[in-house]
Amino acid sequence: MLDTYAAKICCADLYSSELARLILGDSLHPGGLRATNRLGRAMAIQPGWRVLDLACGMGASATALSRVFRCHVTGLELGAQAAAASRTRALSEPVPSNVAFVRGDAETPPFRSGAFDAVIIECAASLFVHKADAIANVVRLLRPGGILGLSDVTVTPGSLPPELDGTIGMMLCLTDALPPDGYQAMLENAGLTITAQENLSNEVLTLLAELRTKLNVWQQFTTPAASPASDLAESAPALLSQVEALVQQGQIGYWHYAARKPA
Ligand SMILES: C[S@@+](CC[C@H](N)C(=O)[O-])C[C@H]1O[C@@H](n2cnc3c(N)ncnc32)[C@H](O)[C@@H]1O
Repeated sequence: MLDTYAAKICCADLYSSELARLILGDSLHPGGLRATNRLGRAMAIQPGWRVLDLACGMGASATALSRVFRCHVTGLELGAQAAAASRTRALSEPVPSNVAFVRGDAETPPFRSGAFDAVIIECAASLFVHKADAIANVVRLLRPGGILGLSDVTVTPGSLPPELDGTIGMMLCLTDALPPDGYQAMLENAGLTITAQENLSNEVLTLLAELRTKLNVWQQFTTPAASPASDLAESAPALLSQVEALVQQGQIGYWHYAARKPA
């Protein structure tokens, strides 16, 4: 389990790294913006709503949601580079008045109670150190009747081999992920009512295939000098195959949930 603020920052900086951006792109979750729009529809986000994107990464979802659903989106992100890139993205695209980015800890969000109609957390709750407290805070931020959309990697407890339990596992949101019924229980224990849930595990297989292609290209065009990045790239194909096998066996997956706060 990750247990310090320093570990959170380190993890956040990993996502902002050049290699991570090159390999993962700006949308840092399986299914990319297709999955984001699907979750937004499950949440029935309405025009004019105030939406919080917790742990928004590079800001791709925040910007897309503001466009597709014509809502106001605030993105909160811990990683310095990601937070800066999010701001640049908003400024360089024609939706700046709908989108704002704030740097901060999603587990202690600096907003007033009831400030949002909807909160979205994509592929990040698995990284939260104190998950139940973080979701209690989300409930506080939602207005009565407001809705949370959560998507995340799922892992059957005890199914990860040691090689996937370190940095790579953390980057793939595996290390501290819950099983599907673990997220369900977490939301219900916070007093939310689940209104939709969907198994999107096929998106993980698609993402793995894309990662393999990008790694091949990266290896073909990069001089093999010893570096942490080249070490990582060398071991990655075998690790990706391991993840793929675990997805096919149903031990790793990706689910989304929409859950409503009582009115
Ligand atoms: C897998 S990425 C997902 C990013 C974004 N939600 C997306 O789907 O594109 C996980 C993100 O969560 C951020 N994160 C993790 N813990 C956080 C925390 N406590 N507060 C804010 N951001 C956090 C990381 O910095 C990283 O950008």
